[in-house]
Amino acid sequence: MKVISVISGKGGVGKTTLTANLGILLTKMGKDVVVIDCNLTTSHLGMHFGIPAERVTLNDVLRGDSTLEEAMYEHPSGMKIVTASLSHRNMKGVDIVFLRPIVRKLDADVVLLDAPPGFERNTHGVLMASDGSLIITTPDLPSVIDVVRCTEILDDLKIPSFGLVVNMRGRGKDELTRSEIEGITGLEIMEEVPFDRSMQQTLRKRIPITLYKPNSLSSRALLRLAHKIEGIEYKTSLFEALRNLLRL
Ligand SMILES: Nc1ncnc2c1ncn2[C@@H]1O[C@H](COP(=O)(O)OP(=O)(O)OP(=O)(O)O)[C@@H](O)[C@H]1O
Ligand SMILES: [Mg+2]
Repeated sequence: MKVISVISGKGGVGKTTLTANLGILLTKMGKDVVVIDCNLTTSHLGMHFGIPAERVTLNDVLRGDSTLEEAMYEHPSGMKIVTASLSHRNMKGVDIVFLRPIVRKLDADVVLLDAPPGFERNTHGVLMASDGSLIITTPDLPSVIDVVRCTEILDDLKIPSFGLVVNMRGRGKDELTRSEIEGITGLEIMEEVPFDRSMQQTLRKRIPITLYKPNSLSSRALLRLAHKIEGIEYKTSLFEALRNLLRL
């Protein structure tokens, strides 16, 4: 079992969106996948799938009132999802230190932990529950500087980085280039996911982009990323090859 925490220093860079889509893609690749919303105060993962709010959540599990199995929602794809409470008030008696023992009891191929932004106590708990982290950033200076902070914390906690993903490439002008980001962070970029206007639509429709528009450039980038995470060679489809040719 591989437990991957999806982290960023700066908020809103795409952790939850990438977690939802990587979960779907890894499931389609035949893996037994569990995705867990560990953003206990501002949770959003369930919204990507339209999961009803009045369910057993990770908050109940961390409080010792329910088991992780009871909190699991099975998506039609076969992927299992554990949501966090939508209410900020539902934090009484919830302690993130129990995440690691709870997650370790799971029987899955891949567990994706969608972390809160920043480096507070809850994030530490998520990091400690994982075997390594996938760091997400957008191509702007504040977000990239926070990647450096992420790497410092991973070093201190002796948790490996599985890779750096740049999300929302092409959203605006004056973005940091690939080599600038690699220079600042000292990390090699694993994949760049383009900015895709359809992301808002996918939230409204409650269908992740990789199911809604599997051939979009963003879905293809996410598919390449899923292959890299699994160490499987990615073969360009005929459709992609033709599209790349026509763009030349
Ligand atoms: N590649 C993309 N193209 C366009 N919009 C995107 C992309 N990735 C994410 N978004 C949008 O950016 C917003 C923030 O994404 P998301 O919630 O995944 O970020 P986050 O890092 O999980 O945020 P938080 O730190 O609050 O947990 C959402 O509206 C999402 O639809
Ligand atoms: Mg999030």
